[in-house]
Amino acid sequence: MKAFVVSEQNTDQFVEVEQERPTPTGHDLLVEVKAVSLNPVDTKVRPQRANKALGFDASGVVVAVGEEVKHYRPGDEVYYAGDITRAGSNASFQLVDERIVGRKPISLHHIEAAALPLTSLTAWEGLYEKLKVKEGGTLLVINGAGGVGSLAIQLAKRVSNMTVIATASRAASQEWVKSMGADAAINHREDMAAQLKALGHDHVDAIFNCYNTDVHFDAMAEIIAPGGQIVSIVSSPTPLDMTKLFSKGVSFSWEFMFTKSMYQTTDMSTQRDILNSVADLVEQGVLVTTLTENAGTLTPETLAQAHQRQESGSMIGKLGLSMPQS
Ligand SMILES: NC(=O)c1ccc[n+]([C@@H]2O[C@H](COP(=O)([O-])OP(=O)(O)OC[C@H]3O[C@@H](n4cnc5c(N)ncnc54)[C@H](OP(=O)(O)O)[C@@H]3O)[C@@H](O)[C@H]2O)c1
Repeated sequence: MKAFVVSEQNTDQFVEVEQERPTPTGHDLLVEVKAVSLNPVDTKVRPQRANKALGFDASGVVVAVGEEVKHYRPGDEVYYAGDITRAGSNASFQLVDERIVGRKPISLHHIEAAALPLTSLTAWEGLYEKLKVKEGGTLLVINGAGGVGSLAIQLAKRVSNMTVIATASRAASQEWVKSMGADAAINHREDMAAQLKALGHDHVDAIFNCYNTDVHFDAMAEIIAPGGQIVSIVSSPTPLDMTKLFSKGVSFSWEFMFTKSMYQTTDMSTQRDILNSVADLVEQGVLVTTLTENAGTLTPETLAQAHQRQESGSMIGKLGLSMPQS
């Protein structure tokens, strides 16, 4: 099978290699990958993954199953975000544990479906497992136009009927967050508390942070309501002063969507349930794909360009690539 691996000579480049097609055992599916999408994690781990195939988000067709697989059979169309500890989706075939795989929404092409899994899982787990949001309330999504923010806005607005304010600093990204369902957009490069006050919000009940946590930590401590909750999906290079949240009794959680597969947690199969719920919501027209850029067929060159585009820090929504015909 074809695999597109990080070049050993230059980890900004990729090389196409022939590898043996793996055989599924246990809970694994062997999936023929039809399309993939990029996430910042691809670019963050690339320097440490010479000679390895990257790629997390994928959409494809099951071609063989391990002996313990119960939910899928050959021919099923599936989508998933994969496991950060295993070989990636930048290959014509990939093994993936059925507990973290959902059925692909039938209304989407593979490339549109591949844009969704990693960001949907992060947004869903952040909102419903960490923030435990219920109907209503106000939510601030910091970095609303990136992949995760775009899904967090859609879910909070269209599924949980919250008042959603999202941050975006350009006209195009502000327009995008509103198209995802945000009631208002504010600029994360200016005083966020003052902009929220101007909109009539002294505080917000919850914050979903999708940007470097240290950068916006003080603003979050100021904006969050007493008894409120913050979830962040981006680590901090410096220690955070949690005492800033003490007097307001604010809860702070981290969300990392690879936790369940990395530690083989007993609730790992909730990722299958989440992806299946997202597929239902897409088919019902509640959620839409966030694919904004189709970068064509995956080659070493298009993949390197896609990484550069993701690293520019200006992505709105998601970038996808189709796997060449095998
Ligand atoms: N923990 C997890 O499981 C998990 C999962 C997925 C992603 N992540 C992490 O979450 C982060 C976001 O990833 P993503 O794919 O959603 O989006 P992304 O593609 O990294 O986000 C691009 C957007 O970032 C915005 N941005 C630039 N500077 C900003 C700032 N100072 N404050 C706030 N936003 C800013 C830009 O908006 P403007 O141009 O409007 O400024 C741009 O549209 C990444 O660090 C990624 O590694 C973590």
